[in-house]
Amino acid sequence: MHNPALRHCGIDAQYVRVQVPVGSVGEALRKFAKAGFIGINVTIPHKFEALDAVDEVDPLARTLGAVNTVQVKDGRLLGYNSDGPGFLAAVDEAFGVSVSSLRVAILGAFGGAGNAVAMQCAIEGCQKLVLVNRSVSRQLEVAANLAEYAPSIKPTFLIGADWNGARIAAELNEVDLIVNGTSLGMKPEDAPLLPAGSLLSRHLVFDMVYRAGGQLTQLGTLARQAGASYVDGVTLLLHQGAISFEHWFDRPAPLDVMRAGLQEALCA
Ligand SMILES: NC(=O)c1ccc[n+]([C@@H]2O[C@H](COP(=O)([O-])OP(=O)(O)OC[C@H]3O[C@@H](n4cnc5c(N)ncnc54)[C@H](OP(=O)(O)O)[C@@H]3O)[C@@H](O)[C@H]2O)c1
Repeated sequence: MHNPALRHCGIDAQYVRVQVPVGSVGEALRKFAKAGFIGINVTIPHKFEALDAVDEVDPLARTLGAVNTVQVKDGRLLGYNSDGPGFLAAVDEAFGVSVSSLRVAILGAFGGAGNAVAMQCAIEGCQKLVLVNRSVSRQLEVAANLAEYAPSIKPTFLIGADWNGARIAAELNEVDLIVNGTSLGMKPEDAPLLPAGSLLSRHLVFDMVYRAGGQLTQLGTLARQAGASYVDGVTLLLHQGAISFEHWFDRPAPLDVMRAGLQEALCA
């Protein structure tokens, strides 16, 4: 997606993938800056570490609690978050609705992307917010952030053992938009995210996960079986890519070129 965009815009640069060990994000970012990198995307599981590693954090990234886009400017590392804004653009493209009109449930709501989306939905003034997560460890922090930045939102928490068939089906019955922010679904052998029968035809299902070659995730299959509207994470990836490009080059991203490049890469 980025290399076709760079070629299209006549920018003499290349987008490359680098694997960085946990605990080395700060060191890696500084090496990249020294080596002449213009910008960096940061992905699973490094987004929290990146928040502390950059020199300056954009206010939205601070509110969303993670950094996934870094711009190198005059040798300094500026940190942004495209998960929230990219999510809004992707929901608009996929479903043609605004998050502010929806009741939303987020699975994996304490992860980097899930938490950013939860905060963004709350900031947008969504009609209801149900936060579902396997582990409890970040609940107090997430609740405190929501209370600070979106005090009118009173989220429902479904944590750990509450994430079972009956509880989740009852909660999903009361929402419009269901977001998968867990990493489940990336591999075909992953455990099912939701019990069969918990999705309804009126649901909008937003999967952050995607699989190469356009293969449906388990959640995608479940959504199709229920007759629900479904979008996988490719649309989110595209819009996040566009947001990164605009941070790095301060010009509109060539969205159609990026979309075609992304599709080609995913089908290769
Ligand atoms: N399409 C896109 O552009 C895009 C953008 C961002 C993220 N994503 C995808 O979103 C997913 C999450 O990314 P992230 O950066 O937020 O990762 P992260 O910070 O590591 O968070 C992972 C989340 O998944 C949950 N989880 C992991 N394994 C689980 C399991 N077996 N059962 C239940 N919950 C489980 C974690 O729960 P615990 O808190 O209990 O560990 C946590 O909530 C990844 O698949 C990533 O590829 C896609």
